[in-house]
Amino acid sequence: MSVWRKKPISAFEAEMKKSGLNRVLTRWGLTSLGIGAIIGGGIFTLTGIAAHDYAGPALALSFVIAGIGCLFASLCYAEFASVLPVEGSAYSYAYGTVGELFAWFIGWNLILEYMMGATTVAVAWSGYFVKLLHLFHIDFPIWLCNDLATATEKCLKSGISVPSFAINLPAFIITWIVTSVLIKGIKEAASTNNIIVIVKISVVLFVIIVGAFYINVENWFPFIPNEVAEIGADGIATGKMNFGFGGVLTAATIVFFAYIGFDAVSTQAGEAVNPKKDVPFAIIASLVICTILYILVSLVLTGMVKYDVLDKAAPVASAFSEKGLTWAVFIITIAATAGLTSVMLVMMLGQTRIFLGMAKDGLLPQFFKSLHPNFKTPYKSTLLVGGIISVVAAFTPIDKVSEMCSMGTLLAFAMVCVAVMLLRYKKPELERPYKAPAIYLVGTLGVAFNLFLMCYVRKETWFAFLIWGTLGILVYFLYSRRNSNLHNAIDENL
Ligand code: ALA
Repeated sequence: MSVWRKKPISAFEAEMKKSGLNRVLTRWGLTSLGIGAIIGGGIFTLTGIAAHDYAGPALALSFVIAGIGCLFASLCYAEFASVLPVEGSAYSYAYGTVGELFAWFIGWNLILEYMMGATTVAVAWSGYFVKLLHLFHIDFPIWLCNDLATATEKCLKSGISVPSFAINLPAFIITWIVTSVLIKGIKEAASTNNIIVIVKISVVLFVIIVGAFYINVENWFPFIPNEVAEIGADGIATGKMNFGFGGVLTAATIVFFAYIGFDAVSTQAGEAVNPKKDVPFAIIASLVICTILYILVSLVLTGMVKYDVLDKAAPVASAFSEKGLTWAVFIITIAATAGLTSVMLVMMLGQTRIFLGMAKDGLLPQFFKSLHPNFKTPYKSTLLVGGIISVVAAFTPIDKVSEMCSMGTLLAFAMVCVAVMLLRYKKPELERPYKAPAIYLVGTLGVAFNLFLMCYVRKETWFAFLIWGTLGILVYFLYSRRNSNLHNAIDENL
């Protein structure tokens, strides 16, 4: 059946040769790239919502749960990347190994991961930017730096009149700045990335070490506050739990976002010195390092202040400002603003490259691969991506977009686990420089964990997600299947 047709390995090799990339990235260079893509809005911002509304001090437990799901997925991802160390992503691996429809659906979910991921980070960036300006006594009106729902919540809390219109202008503007940088073309030098990674890790260590001196153990109790069902603004239950173990799981789906990005390492396989060994190493190493840092940061934050006083827009900075450490707030906000910009760059770049890859394979229209005559970047798709992100970021609460991102990623990860198990079964003879341990156990747990976490997002996100999935299937059968480069080609088995 044509939906199982695979892209020939020779086609990947030809593309790799044509790209003429230098193989300069070592295993630690790749790990640094991974960390650069991972640390961002999740730890700097979403920890606020997760602790304040859902997990309380048990935030660290939410990080452990989400981290375990990611670890299983990362082991499978690493094996997938080692079988086919080409540029791209899970989409490319699946296309070369499992088949077109599977690959399409992974690609379709990766669009959610990268596009909604960049949107989340844009809103997170705005929170820190506003905080930074506040340190210089410049204050944005609430309606100019929040979406309407968030602005309303803030106004009600402060007892000021509720606006009838609101826009997150900083998020809108930063998206267009990043879009224009991408159109002009960045070949993000590994050295620039390394500097940003050092800044990010330093500030995270700073938070852990300095914050540890301000921990008041009483703030950790009760570790898991009592459970209550969350009621939406319309008075109807949202399907989420505030606190209790249900809340800890909901918080895990929120902070899952913080781990997204380890898969970005695989997109750099084309520039790795020894991709078959180093890409799997870097995927796992970057994830493990970030997991440890995240658990420590969440313990420190919820230990420094009571979880219910953490600010939802800039929680890390707020914990330090509660303690009167203005100088530390200054350092944290500057580092977070810079670090978040780099995550946006990586995510938007990743999105346009996935579009480019899918368009080159004929699964998306030519529009997505049309290059700028001077800059040689896919400017049309970059403009489209920038347009969508800027509007969504300007008008949507951060938890809604991050949930959509997490849903897409959770499903993509589950599919990767399935694909790797399928491949072990169908092609046991393939050379696998990295083999995930106990694959059928690890893969099954990966699928189970990721699908399980999907059950803990609110109903309206599920609804939007089902619409997105249906749209994906329609586009595939109405357009992509017929326009695929492989349409008339004979299936090639590995
Ligand atoms: N993990 C990335 C972040 O937290 C996407 O911003």
